[in-house]
Amino acid sequence: MKVVAVYSTKGGAGKTSAALNLAWEASKSGRVLLWDLDAQGASTYLTGVKPKLKGGVAKLLTGSNGISEVARKADLPSVDGHHRIDVVPADDSYRELEVRLDAAKGSRRRLQKVLKDAAGSYDTVILDCPPGASLVAENAVRSADVIVTPVPPAALSLRSLEQVRELVADSAKPAPILAFLSMVDRRKLTHRRAAEELPAEHSEIVDVIVPASVVVERMGDERAPVATFAPRHHVAQAYADLWRLVAQHA
Ligand SMILES: Nc1ncnc2c1ncn2[C@@H]1O[C@H](COP(=O)(O)OP(=O)(O)O)[C@@H](O)[C@H]1O
Ligand SMILES: [Mg+2]
Repeated sequence: MKVVAVYSTKGGAGKTSAALNLAWEASKSGRVLLWDLDAQGASTYLTGVKPKLKGGVAKLLTGSNGISEVARKADLPSVDGHHRIDVVPADDSYRELEVRLDAAKGSRRRLQKVLKDAAGSYDTVILDCPPGASLVAENAVRSADVIVTPVPPAALSLRSLEQVRELVADSAKPAPILAFLSMVDRRKLTHRRAAEELPAEHSEIVDVIVPASVVVERMGDERAPVATFAPRHHVAQAYADLWRLVAQHA
């Protein structure tokens, strides 16, 4: 079982969009668990799952509930050749997630412990992380075999990438970071320049670019990954390419 943390300290960077599209790509080759770790519940919403975590997050973290008891089947279009995607939904109990983690024994490895329970049931776990450098993020980073970080072409995003690097470096066994340029608008000179220069300047930034496109925004209306409603769109292709790189790393 490979664990992929989609993470940046920056909000609105394209994490959730990437998490769902990567989950979709991963479901071509095996069983996928998408864990919505953000109290905002965006990936819970996008997968059509009820925002209700059975027993609350406390029971999951203490081990009195297992992943198998709280995971729900994503309500996504069924397409031949895809395995099912299960979701651990975010709900109101996430308000206490940080505090509960902090109080737990081995507070930095709690998630890793919880995920052990899923090893026989899933081939890939995608963690849709909240922004910021919280204990949740530390846990996610520690559990991950690879960290995927969207980087919108702006100075602040590079600062966020630096923060991700620092957090990952602090981890006991640092996972590789795979960063990609996200929301790139080729009509903007600064974006074109970023697309040309940043991959050469930062070793983590891969060649795959996810362009700024309304098809990504449409995911909110369709409540589905791009490949299900616009399979030929270059954004769908970009996420497929990104998954191929992630799969090589993990
Ligand atoms: N490539 C893109 N093109 C256009 N809009 C995007 C793109 N990626 C994300 N968005 C939009 O930006 C917002 C934030 O994206 P999201 O994936 O939720 O980011 P995060 O999880 O990092 O907060 C959402 O409304 C989403 O639809
Ligand atoms: Mg998000």
